[in-house]
Amino acid sequence: MKVLVTGGAGFIGSHTVVDLIENGITPIIVDDFRNSEKFVLKQLEKLCGTKIVSYNIDCCNYEQMEAIFSSEKPDGVIHFAADKSVNESVENPLKYYQNNIGSLVTLLRLIEKHPVKSFVFSSSCTVYGNPDSVPVTELSPIKKAFSPYGFSKQVCEQCLVDFHNSNPKNSIILLRYFNPIGAHPSSLIGELPIGVPNNLIPFITQTAAGVREKVVVFGASYNTNDGTCVRDYIHVCDLAKSHVLALNYALKNPNNIDTFNVGTGKGDSVLEVIKSFEKINSLTLNYEIGPKRAGDAPVVYADNSYIKKKLNWSPKYSLEDALLHSWNWQQTL
Ligand code: UD1
Repeated sequence: MKVLVTGGAGFIGSHTVVDLIENGITPIIVDDFRNSEKFVLKQLEKLCGTKIVSYNIDCCNYEQMEAIFSSEKPDGVIHFAADKSVNESVENPLKYYQNNIGSLVTLLRLIEKHPVKSFVFSSSCTVYGNPDSVPVTELSPIKKAFSPYGFSKQVCEQCLVDFHNSNPKNSIILLRYFNPIGAHPSSLIGELPIGVPNNLIPFITQTAAGVREKVVVFGASYNTNDGTCVRDYIHVCDLAKSHVLALNYALKNPNNIDTFNVGTGKGDSVLEVIKSFEKINSLTLNYEIGPKRAGDAPVVYADNSYIKKKLNWSPKYSLEDALLHSWNWQQTL
C-alpha cells in the first residue's frame, strides 16, 4: 500500500511515517517545510533504514498535487499539513482559513478524480471547546470554537461529512487528537517548535534546558483537584499507531465515514505534569503560578472506548514515558 502523507516532516506526521514503514506501508511525504525542518527526512531515513520519497510542495497547490497523484498513484492519503497555533490564528485568521480549509478542499477534489480508497484527517479535541461533561465521547456536542484554528478544524470536519454524503466512494476517518507529547524513544525525531512554544511540554523541556527562564502555569484556581487545568496527554508514538489502524479499518470498511477520539482516557493537571517531569528526569523545574490564559477549558480528556473497540487501539506509553522521551529529545537539540 502507498500512502501520501501531507505534513509528513512535522511532529505527528514524522512519527506516523515510521509506523507506516514498520507496517510495510510506503509513505510519500508532501511537506513545504514552513513549520518543519528538512533534516527530519534524513533522521527518518536513518531510523527506518530506507530511502523515503518526499516532495517540497504546498498541498494547497492543486496543479502540483495533481502531478503527484498522477505519478505516485497513492492508495490512501493521511492529511496532517495544517497551521496549528491558536494565538497566531487569532492574529491572522485568513491564513488559517486559507491553509487549513484550502488544503483539505484541494485534496478532496483530487481524491474525487483519482482511485484513492482511504483518507485519514487530523482533527483535534479542540472541536469540543469547553465540554459540558468529561470524558468527551465522539457524540459530545461540537461547541463554539475559541479560535479561528479551532473553527478551521470544525469546518474541515463538516466539509468531510458533506463530501462523503455527496460522493461515498472513499472511506474517510477523522481522528480527534487530544494533547500529543513525547518523542520517538530513539531520540532521532521529536517536536520542533518554531520560536517561543505555545504548548506546555516544549515550554517545560526548553526551560529545563535553560532556553527559557521559567514555566508559567496558566491559572491555579480552576475547579480541579489542584486548581490547574486538566488535559489528556497522549504519546506521539501511540497517536501515530492510530493512523495505521485507521487505514486498515478504512480498507475493510469501504464507503464509510467514522470519527475517533485518540487520547489515553486519563486527565492530568499542569502541576501533575510538572511533578512527573521532575521525578522521571530527576531534575527541578523553575515554575510559577500565573494568570489564566484566555480560552483554556478547565478539564478535557477523552472517552477512548470507541477507538479501542473498533480499531483495537490502545496506548502503550505512560505520561512518564512521554516526559522522559521529550526530555531525551530536547537534549539532542
Ligand atoms: C492546544 C489546542 C489544541 C491542540 C493542542 C496541541 C485549543 C483550545 N487547544 O491545546 O487544539 O491540539 O494545543 O497543539 O485550541 N499551559 C501552561 N503554561 C504554558 C503552556 C500551557 O500552564 O506555558 C497549560 C494550558 O493552560 C493547558 C495545558 O498547559 O491547560 C496544555 O496547554 P497546551 O499545550 O497549549 O495545549 P491545549 O491548549 O490543551
